[in-house]
Amino acid sequence: MTAPILSLKNVNKSFGPIDVLHDINLDLRAGEVLCLLGDNGAGKSTVIRLLSGVHKPTTGEILMDGKPVSFANPREASDHGIATVHQFGGTFPLMSIGRSFFVGLEPTKGWGPFKIYDRRRANEIAVKAVQSFGITRIDDGDRLVGGLSGGERQSLAIARAVHFGARVLILDEPTAALGVKQAAHVLRIVNEAKRRGLAVIFITHQVMHAMAVGDHFAVLIRGAIAADFHKGEKTREEITDLMAGGETMATLEAEIEGYMQAHDGHPPQVASPA
Ligand SMILES: Nc1ncnc2c1ncn2[C@@H]1O[C@H](COP(=O)(O)OP(=O)(O)O)[C@@H](O)[C@H]1O
Ligand SMILES: [Mg+2]
Repeated sequence: MTAPILSLKNVNKSFGPIDVLHDINLDLRAGEVLCLLGDNGAGKSTVIRLLSGVHKPTTGEILMDGKPVSFANPREASDHGIATVHQFGGTFPLMSIGRSFFVGLEPTKGWGPFKIYDRRRANEIAVKAVQSFGITRIDDGDRLVGGLSGGERQSLAIARAVHFGARVLILDEPTAALGVKQAAHVLRIVNEAKRRGLAVIFITHQVMHAMAVGDHFAVLIRGAIAADFHKGEKTREEITDLMAGGETMATLEAEIEGYMQAHDGHPPQVASPA
């Protein structure tokens, strides 16, 4: 096995009196997708915020290439090659595709005070980068980002991160708000990023999405790692049960069945306002 790019070592995170993460140990390797699973409130986004420079661990360390790192802000994490793509791609709806690709990093032509944003070149590079991920529907860099579908926006953001040299790609619930086809696009791009040697952290609630791309899985339950395993080591049912906080789905189903029988087949009544 190769050495990890990024590791969390005995990481704890508290906000005032609230302990959110407990003794987290995780290793992330190049060319691997780590799926971070767990119920709402388990602490997944907090793990991501530590890795992307939004928060610092209360105790414990983050290692990059085996050396301790500390990120004062998201910019520092991004300077280390850690790119975080948020659910809606984090792009600006009223900007063109070419513009948003280079926001803050525009290629220029000319010299000194005559430097100007080279729109044609920016468009060409952006379109080529996105198309290299198989998104051939994006072929005009002048189009506005707001006109893209959710999956296309995510694809654009991922292509941008890869183009500018990210080594670690973090995706917090990228497929949560997407339809089946759109999600399939994003999953394909995650696989492509992995093929190009990036380390990917993929957060999802959908077991099928996790299984479609994951090599390595970690399940968080109430802020602690409850399971850490590799592809093929657990079945879909086992993973689903772990994500439900260790309760088996069979038990839940039996409870629902029992309820339905006790209530003559009627679903639970919601009290109507007086
Ligand atoms: N800044 C904060 N201050 C206090 N509590 C927080 C803060 N951020 C997250 N939490 C708490 O930490 C827990 C985990 O949250 P989060 O990491 O967002 O979970 P997930 O992404 O798995 O749904 C939640 O109980 C949440 O309320
Ligand atoms: Mg979250």
